Amino acid sequence: MTSHENEYVLGTDDAELVRLGLQHRLWSAQAFACWERAGVTPGHTVLDVGSGPGFASLDLAQLVTASGRVIAVDESERFLRYLAQRAASLGIAHIETRVGDVHTLDIPAQSVDVAYARWVLCFTPRPEDVVARVASALKPGGVFAVQDYINWGALSLSPRSDAFLRVMPSVGKSWRDRGGDWQVGGRLPALLAARGLRVDYIEPLQRVARSTDPLWQWPTTFFANFIPRLVEQGLVSERDWREMESDWNERSRDPNAFFWTPSMVEIVARRV
Ligand SMILES: C[S@@+](CC[C@H](N)C(=O)[O-])C[C@H]1O[C@@H](n2cnc3c(N)ncnc32)[C@H](O)[C@@H]1O
Repeated sequence: MTSHENEYVLGTDDAELVRLGLQHRLWSAQAFACWERAGVTPGHTVLDVGSGPGFASLDLAQLVTASGRVIAVDESERFLRYLAQRAASLGIAHIETRVGDVHTLDIPAQSVDVAYARWVLCFTPRPEDVVARVASALKPGGVFAVQDYINWGALSLSPRSDAFLRVMPSVGKSWRDRGGDWQVGGRLPALLAARGLRVDYIEPLQRVARSTDPLWQWPTTFFANFIPRLVEQGLVSERDWREMESDWNERSRDPNAFFWTPSMVEIVARRV
């Protein structure tokens, strides 16, 4: 990580990069369904808003083919360097990486067919500014597709763990302390409408991960990467984390255990 690297709340180290790769795999069916609804097609220019290391950007590049273009914007230089290297090694030349803050996106007006933002607006202190920039970048008829949290706090672990319940509010606090909003999905329809984007589709994204499912690795890796950061910051006690970790490991061995994922929403809106 470079010294001027902007740190998003979960960090940009190797462990987070690997986690984001796994997360994309585990949620790629939902992503592809969303892109289909958004009408991503060969020749399109797609803007990946807050692309991270670009796991979605690489898939989108395949969908738009070499006749189209993917513009991946993220504030992490490190993540975008990773994306550029992967694209080069795969011989993909139609992904453009741009380091920048999505609040001040600088994309030519009316140049984008589809913009996609997944798990980004929940971190941005002013999602209305991001929506405004995306709306202006869209061509008339262009689409903004968002997959983001509407109620992160709805997550639950069964059988219940008291340590888990004690630790979870600190996750929300750390997020809010940096201006994030884990319920951002509920604000989006109004923000989109204010910028002339008509909401054509709004549906929940809610899943359950049994301890025996691949999706179980999603919360497992999230907690393993993130909670130790909260311990370092003094937001979670070492004792609570140890107890939660031990409960989690126990649930992981219990075939009847399941994790109710944080509630997300998918919104597809069109510039009219
Ligand atoms: C959870 S990751 C999601 C990455 C990607 N969208 C995905 O679905 O795999 C959140 C990303 O948002 C980026 N991010 C957060 N705030 C940002 C901002 N204001 N400007 C640009 N990128 C931002 C972070 O650097 C990080 O890569």
